[in-house]
Formats: sequence, C-alpha cells, structure tokens
Amino acid sequence: MDTDLCEHTLERLSRLRLPGHLAVIMDGNGRWAERGGRPRHAGHRAGVRTVRMIIEAAARLKLDALTLFAFSSENWRRPKAEVRVLMELFRTTLDRELERLHENRIRLRVIGDRERLEKPLRRRLDYAETLTRDNEGLTLVIATSYGGRWELAQAARRLGEAVQRGELDPSTIDETVFSSALSAPDVPEPDLFIRTGGERRLSNFLLWQSAYTELYFTETLWPDFRLDDLAAALEDYAGRERRFGRTGEQLGRVRHA
Ligand code: IPE
Ligand code: IPE
Ligand code: MG
Repeated sequence: MDTDLCEHTLERLSRLRLPGHLAVIMDGNGRWAERGGRPRHAGHRAGVRTVRMIIEAAARLKLDALTLFAFSSENWRRPKAEVRVLMELFRTTLDRELERLHENRIRLRVIGDRERLEKPLRRRLDYAETLTRDNEGLTLVIATSYGGRWELAQAARRLGEAVQRGELDPSTIDETVFSSALSAPDVPEPDLFIRTGGERRLSNFLLWQSAYTELYFTETLWPDFRLDDLAAALEDYAGRERRFGRTGEQLGRVRHA
C-alpha cells in the first residue's frame, strides 16, 4: 500500500474514539465521471484509488473491520456493459492488490450472492479468502452482489434447512441464533456507516447489522473522497453519544439544568 497518507492526520485520528467496524457505501462514481464529460466507467476506475486509501487508513488506524459495498443485488439491473466493467475492475484490482493485502496481514472476506458471479472471479475470491484466513490484522469485508434482503432470506433458508434436518428446534431461534446464520457472523456489527455521493439511504446494505449503526452522509463523490473527508466523518462519530435505548444519564452524562 503506497497511498501517501498524511502521518499527522493519522496521528490525530488515532487519539479519537474510533469505530471498531466502519462500513462504507461507495457512491458517486458515475456522476463524478459525467461531470467531467467522461463515460461512467472512468468514474469506477477513479474510485479504485479511494478504495486503496481507505483500506490503508483503516489498517493504519487499527480498526477491527472495514466493509466496502462494491456492488449491490440491484446493481445487476444496470446496463450489461457497465456490469462487465465493474466485474472486470474487481477482478483486476484483486489480482493486483492481493499480495499487498496479505503482506499487511489483512483478512479478506466476501459477502453476497456468489452464484451470480462468473466462475473465474468466484475462484479468485475463494483463493483470496483462504490465503488470508489466518491473518490477524484488519478484517476487510467486500460486499458484492450483496443485498440485505438477500442475506436475510438466505439466513431464514439456512435455519429452515437445519430445522428440517432435525438439528435445530425452532423454539430456540432468537436474535443470537438468527445472527449466526448471516453471512459473516464473526464480524461485529458496524459502528459507523459512511455514504458518499449525497444520497441519504441505505440501498439494501446490511439491514440486520445496521440496527444501531451511526449514519454519516457526505456530498463528496467517491473518487474525490480523501483522508481529510474520512477524518471529518471519524471526528463527527467520535462526538456522538450512543445510547442503545438507554438514557444519557444511565451512560453517565451530566445533565445541564
Ligand atoms: C457507486 O457509484 C458504484 C456502484 C454502485 C457500483 P455509482 O455508479 O452508483 O455512481 P452514481 O451514483 O451513478 O454517481
Ligand atoms: C449503492 O449505490 C450500492 C453501492 C454503493 C454498491 P447505488 O448507486 O446502487 O444506490 P441507489 O440505486 O442510488 O440507491
Ligand atoms: Mg449510485
């Protein structure tokens, strides 16, 4: 990784209360390209630079996990040519970066409906996950061909099958059991979502896991998102009070008259 991050900014951020798990909806590539009068795929290519930046920053800040929303279940509805570019970009970037990720002790995980991906990409993803399985650094989760509803439906199916095999008593299905049937049950729930590109919606991202996630939206388009933009999001997060249903007083906040 060689994105030249500002040491001073990293140092300042490392003193904050940071999210253990950061999840990012990387949006705005198409508009970034269109604004410059270029085809949408130019924006997707430009976005790869930001992907490298945020992975390196998350690793340097010692976050436990970083999830990147790369391609949604609904993105399959895009024009074939754009889908092809995105898949190719995913494959070539993985080929180029895998060794470096592994050297940096990053553990790669992929969530989403792999059946819909082409075989060569699927094979590479399996290989990358196996190669990095025992790394103890940042857990990097790539959500591709992923939708929150898809994940919930397949969790329900898995549990149903376990019941059918006689391995699970349906009366024992509670939130913990249900969570264990999700795609990456060992990865803690995200503490912070960042969505670039100005839209204020989740677009079917991590629906179950986001129950108590803090949300941060920025107008900045993904290819323009820099370490300083990440710093602004992390500083905003550090100032928030997370109550999880309790009162501020219960959390020890002093009440002002
Ligand atoms: C995000 O950028 C990348 C993907 C969803 C794959 P978009 O391609 O959605 O860019 P906009 O939102 O059209 O600008
Ligand atoms: C969300 O972006 C999905 C990803 C970033 C991969 P979209 O651009 O697909 O979202 P919508 O369609 O505007 O909600
Ligand atoms: Mg978009």
